[in-house]
Amino acid sequence: MKRVGLVGWRGMVGSVLMQRMQEEKDFDVIDPVFFTTSQAGQAAPNFGKDAGTLQDANDIAQLAAMDVIISCQGGDYTTEVFPKLRASGWEGYWIDAASTLRMEDNAVIVLDPVNDDVIQGALARGVKNYIGGNCTNSIMLMGMGGLFKAGLVDWVSSMTYQAASGGGANHMRELLKGMGVVYNAVADELATPASAILEIDKKVAHTISNDVPTEFFGAPLAGGLIPWIDKQLDNGQTKEEWKGQAEVNKILGSDATIPVDGLCVRIGAMRCHSLALTIKLKKDLPLAEIEAIIKSGNDWVKWVPNDREITVKELIPAQITGKLDIGVGRVRKLNMGPEYISAFVIGDQLLWGAAEPLRRMLRILLA
Ligand code: HSE
Repeated sequence: MKRVGLVGWRGMVGSVLMQRMQEEKDFDVIDPVFFTTSQAGQAAPNFGKDAGTLQDANDIAQLAAMDVIISCQGGDYTTEVFPKLRASGWEGYWIDAASTLRMEDNAVIVLDPVNDDVIQGALARGVKNYIGGNCTNSIMLMGMGGLFKAGLVDWVSSMTYQAASGGGANHMRELLKGMGVVYNAVADELATPASAILEIDKKVAHTISNDVPTEFFGAPLAGGLIPWIDKQLDNGQTKEEWKGQAEVNKILGSDATIPVDGLCVRIGAMRCHSLALTIKLKKDLPLAEIEAIIKSGNDWVKWVPNDREITVKELIPAQITGKLDIGVGRVRKLNMGPEYISAFVIGDQLLWGAAEPLRRMLRILLA
């Protein structure tokens, strides 16, 4: 059995990965070795298999004894450890949730239901670094992969609605605390049906401006939104917006760059990222054909007809969260012309957006 080192298994993405690996019985077919940055020597977790003691995640020799390493430890860890590990002569497979190595020539962004051909080609060439994509891009491609694979996409404008989980565990906590602060500010008035809504609103507006915690998001998210995600680039894009075109084209292995651009916005959802897309197709196709192509993209596309009742029931975070389904709906022709369509795509940021492509890459290596 392959020795698989797991780093960062205790964090949020790592915990979701462990859960999915248990559900899919991945531990039955590997020899897991758990690494830690702080508790080496203590008992390793037991996910249905005794894994001895925790190893030191900064010990290059211990890491180099692995056939495969999966890291959810974050970008700083990758930056620190990965070059030393490769410099030591290690030739194992590195699977990483962090963005650090994504755009390197010797790395592939993994999303096998969309780019299995790119992954297989890289394996054949001896590429050893397989990196999870940006969550928004992975979710968009899981939803729209059929259209891309059919070569039908001329360009995409992607307006995102990104959940708190994309920032991390502290961000999710901050959102919830903020919701509580807002509620508590007007709890008495809400309990009194006769109270005036504009008085409630005034108090809420004051609370959002002054009392909602902003330590992690830098702005109040509860009861609001933040139209900026990640660093500022010189061209006016955010880093998150830049990733759209760069990563989507790398994932697809495109010969000619497909333009992808839009605005990325943080909203008060917990862990479902959504995208409102405007897509210019290369030709005018009947909607029924477009629907069939989108549905054929992969087994996880959950097609939602463009109908009010089913859309508000199915195409929402409350339905998608915790599931591998990628909701795709609101598909219709736009006024701009017959080649222009809209689509709304929604997926769990921690599943297809983070953990799932990593464990599937492990399975590809084990096959
Ligand atoms: N950068 C993403 C976000 C999450 O902030 O939502 C990581 O892919």
